[in-house]
Parts: sequence; structure tokens; C-alpha cells
Amino acid sequence: MKTEERTFVAIKPDGVKRGIIGKIIERFENKGFKIVAMKLLQVTPELAAKHYEEHQGKPFYNRLVHYITSGPVVAMVIEGYEAIESVRHIVGATNPMNADVGTIRADFAQVMEYNVIHASDSPNSAQREINLYFKPEEIYDNWQSMLELITYNEERFQG
Ligand code: CMP
Repeated sequence: MKTEERTFVAIKPDGVKRGIIGKIIERFENKGFKIVAMKLLQVTPELAAKHYEEHQGKPFYNRLVHYITSGPVVAMVIEGYEAIESVRHIVGATNPMNADVGTIRADFAQVMEYNVIHASDSPNSAQREINLYFKPEEIYDNWQSMLELITYNEERFQG
């Protein structure tokens, strides 16, 4: 059973400022995922509050909002086979200390406060976060990715 999903990913300000946008995106392209939306934007305090509403009231909340608004982020919608769980494997555990070697957070981050990247943790979060960051017309799915054909969706191949 092939299950195509979309998930939301954001390279956080530390990743943008360190100049590792390309290295991070490369990992998703290597996997064969299709990037169907992407933009560089400044997260406002209002957007941060919506994005991280589940963390409001936690001890780290104010630092988290300060961090995510401290520079631009690169927001993306990524599509592929069970993309939500698969992207989270590539991203690694929230705390880079516990992230498996080879994951983005293990390879590029040291501490939870500056963990380089965000990825949706469930289908509901993915839908909610995609809607927060992108208008429907900013998502481009009407093109054929060679990656999706070869890596998991051969029956889409039309010639
Ligand atoms: P993210 O995947 O963007 O989701 C929520 C973010 O809050 C998380 O990555 C971390 O950046 C941050 N975070 C979660 N837990 C903690 C914590 N205990 N201390 C500091 N920051 C945290």
C-alpha cells in the first residue's frame, strides 16, 4: 500500500544563518522527496504563537519564540511516501544529544534550543502548519518529479 503524504519543514534561523540551507535540502532530495512549496520568510511573533501554541506556558516557550523570530526561516512542504514519519527520521530527535548519527540534528546541532530544523509530528500538525505558512496557490504539485517516479511511485510514470 503506497501512502503519499505532505509534511511541513522549516529550517530555523540558526540553520539559515550558518549557511547550511543547501546541505539540509539535499538530504530530502537525496531521499527522493518532492518539494512542492518553499519560501524564505521572517516569522512574526503572531505566527510563532500560532505555530507553537501547544508549547505556550512551558518554561522554554519565550526562548523558543525569540529563537524562531530571530532571523529568516526557510519553510517547505515536502511530499512523498509516508513523508511525515520519514522526514522525522531524517531530522532526528528533538534533542540533538539523542538524535541518531546521520540525522540532521545529530550532524548539525548540539542543543535542543538551537536544533536547526522543525518538522511536523503528525498528520494533523502537518495540515495545520502547512495552512499556517502557505496559501493553497503557493503549493505546486502539477509537475512530475523524476524522483517520485523512481523512488516510490512508478505507476505515475506516463512515458
Ligand atoms: P521543534 O521541533 O521546532 O518543536 C518545538 C521546539 O521547542 C523544539 O523543536 C525545540 O526547538 C524546542 N524545545 C522543545 N523542548 C524544549 C526544551 N525542553 N527546552 C528547550 N527547547 C525545547
